[in-house]
Amino acid sequence: MTAQAVLSPLTRSALFLVVTIDPGGEDTVRGLLPDLSALNRAVGFRSLHGELSCVTGIGSAAWDRLFGGPRPAELHPFRELAGPVHRAVSTPGDLLFHVRAHRPDLCFALAGEIMDRLRDAVTAQDEVQGFKYFDVRDLLGFVDGTENPVGAEASEAVLIGAEDPPFAGGSYVVVQKYLHDLRAWNALPVEEQELAIGRHKLSDVELPDDVKPPDSHVALTTITDPDGTEHQILRDNMPFGQVGRGEFGTYFIGYARTPTVTERMLERMFLGAPGAAHDRILDFSTPVTGNLFFVPSADFLDDPPGPPSLTATVEAPPRTRAFAPSLGIGDLKGIPS
Ligand code: HEM
Repeated sequence: MTAQAVLSPLTRSALFLVVTIDPGGEDTVRGLLPDLSALNRAVGFRSLHGELSCVTGIGSAAWDRLFGGPRPAELHPFRELAGPVHRAVSTPGDLLFHVRAHRPDLCFALAGEIMDRLRDAVTAQDEVQGFKYFDVRDLLGFVDGTENPVGAEASEAVLIGAEDPPFAGGSYVVVQKYLHDLRAWNALPVEEQELAIGRHKLSDVELPDDVKPPDSHVALTTITDPDGTEHQILRDNMPFGQVGRGEFGTYFIGYARTPTVTERMLERMFLGAPGAAHDRILDFSTPVTGNLFFVPSADFLDDPPGPPSLTATVEAPPRTRAFAPSLGIGDLKGIPS
């Protein structure tokens, strides 16, 4: 199974497009999926060093509208978290297109081709054009992405294997669009900012364990089992903003082999952990979106299953096709009625 470009190298630009599928738009969406790789090639080949890629994610409710057959074992809607102070909201989203390249025009052009095909079938819910900032810093001024897994460790953290055979090579992705209160953040002395993140601002070196507070971002997003096993996700956060409107943000995107790892991080950030009421960066950063998507393998997109009602008929043995409504039930296992 070939994975989508989940593990593609970090790029200078990204475009995050989240849409909902209009009633009746399912056929158009299904028709686009096998063409995505050709669209990527058509736009990307014109810039040899542009590193254009697109990862397509599919939400829980949309999955059941689009496909018959089995569904990814851990796919569910994004779970809203309401902490005593901060809330991780869940917002509408059926499809995610995570478009990356070294040039914004490539991202823009590919997203344009995608929307050209989907225009009458979907409603855009959110679109963010992100950019890499100085020294790979976020708009809080800290280097973002340092502790990402690389190489075999990254594949192991991100790609589904034998635990869900029909969906091997897939992944789960969580996105949240955060807006920062930069005035309040910049009013903090740098030493306090460093305690909020858990790393030094200039050098990016992690604070020693006896200095790093339990409510620092790094402390709360480090998930370690009692036996010392660490659970990682792969992030490709991007700064975005509109200076004229005073809007400054971080688009968080995290890929993982199971959504439970990212969810544990979110729970610790928003609901707290021993010694921490919540993640200190939330006092300066508010999520205004929240979605979970399944990222099927590239092979799945190239040849997706038929729609829910058809799959039962198509997969029934030929000689018994006349009785498909009852014999096809097995194919629909796992699909909520
Ligand atoms: C680490 C920024 C949201 C998971 C970091 C670091 C920064 C940062 C500066 C330290 C350097 C690094 O290793 O990348 C932000 C900002 C966010 C945000 C500005 C949004 C406002 C999230 C969310 C999650 C998350 C929502 C997970 C659900 C992680 C993880 C690490 C990390 C796993 C690495 C921890 C370690 O092993 O040291 N983040 N982050 N981040 N963040 Fe975030």
